[in-house]
Amino acid sequence: MHSIMRNKPLTMKRREFVRQCLGLSGGLLLASSVPALLNGGIAYADSGHAPIRKPIPATGDRLSSIGMGTWRTFNVGSSPALLAQRVEILRHFLQSGGECIDSSPMYGSSREVIGHCLNVLNKEGANLTDKVFPADKIWTYEEAATRRQYDESADLWGLTSFELMQVHNLLAWEAHLPVLMEMKAKGQLRYVGITTSHGRRHSDLEQIMRKYPLDFVQLTYNARDRAVEDRLLPLARDRGIAVIVNRPFDGGQLIDDLQRQQIALPDWAGSVQCTNWPQLLLKFITSHPAVTCAIPATSRLEHMRENMGALTGSLPDEPLRRELLNYLSRQPGLRGMRPA
Ligand SMILES: NC(=O)c1ccc[n+]([C@@H]2O[C@H](COP(=O)([O-])OP(=O)(O)OC[C@H]3O[C@@H](n4cnc5c(N)ncnc54)[C@H](OP(=O)(O)O)[C@@H]3O)[C@@H](O)[C@H]2O)c1
Repeated sequence: MHSIMRNKPLTMKRREFVRQCLGLSGGLLLASSVPALLNGGIAYADSGHAPIRKPIPATGDRLSSIGMGTWRTFNVGSSPALLAQRVEILRHFLQSGGECIDSSPMYGSSREVIGHCLNVLNKEGANLTDKVFPADKIWTYEEAATRRQYDESADLWGLTSFELMQVHNLLAWEAHLPVLMEMKAKGQLRYVGITTSHGRRHSDLEQIMRKYPLDFVQLTYNARDRAVEDRLLPLARDRGIAVIVNRPFDGGQLIDDLQRQQIALPDWAGSVQCTNWPQLLLKFITSHPAVTCAIPATSRLEHMRENMGALTGSLPDEPLRRELLNYLSRQPGLRGMRPA
């Protein structure tokens, strides 16, 4: 794990060790992830099974292009049966090469449940948790509570520090951002970010992205909701800000609509190794050049299996991305779609 888990002996991460021995930066070490054109798609991996990992501009380190959200899906309290299911969901996520886990104090018991699952997997000793990229949020009106909430979250996850701490929904951002930046400067935190999922906050977010040296921004982007394409995604690229995409399935509605209307996958989906809609919807997102990772949430192991299928193989190139949008916009029963 990038950050230190309290219940695990402190050892140098293997990746960090190799990097130091070779005197390489993160980006160079993962040269197999450099894109090359292949069959109309962008190939990110030498073998079909290596996870697609995209750069974090601030450091050049790479992050798996499929992460995991936890809103609702990990808010399951203390039921042993539900906890055991979450352990299996997280196990599959990590075994497939997933890294970023996103949570928030807003998500009920999710932080505690993540902590429980990591602890169970850690005790098994298979080093599964070594690559977790823990990302949480500050979500409080209380301006003086930044540090306190950070510590509380770290405690619930079983960590001493986070890789990424984000201000949730721009709440009291004027107070929280400077504290997080200071913590980063002192080495208590690796990356600082800010999140929203509301179009009405986009102009505020744009101003913050222009003014502050953010490492990450988290926003909503999917084949139906493309409001960020015009300004925020290009700005993130210009400013070197990594992008995490929330609500990649439009909260699940987009998959439901596609399935209810029995809309067939386009016949070229196999050329980018997609066998179902969730994979194609996720690859549409992660193939955007500004996007670092998408964080779909699921409460079901079979859905996690489907979603992690989007982490390998090739990604649609620009013509295929446009073709997907045009195909979806031609489906009469699918609301809210617009052509490329
Ligand atoms: N402002 C913010 O910071 C903010 C706002 C919104 C979201 N987020 C983050 O982003 C994450 C993702 O957003 P979200 O949870 O709102 O929406 P989402 O990931 O777009 O959709 C989640 C829904 O999709 C369903 N689903 C997942 N995989 C599926 C599959 N393979 N087949 C069919 N259905 C599938 C899930 O149902 P099942 O459980 O049945 O699989 C769930 O109901 C959140 O969990 C949270 O961590 C952050």
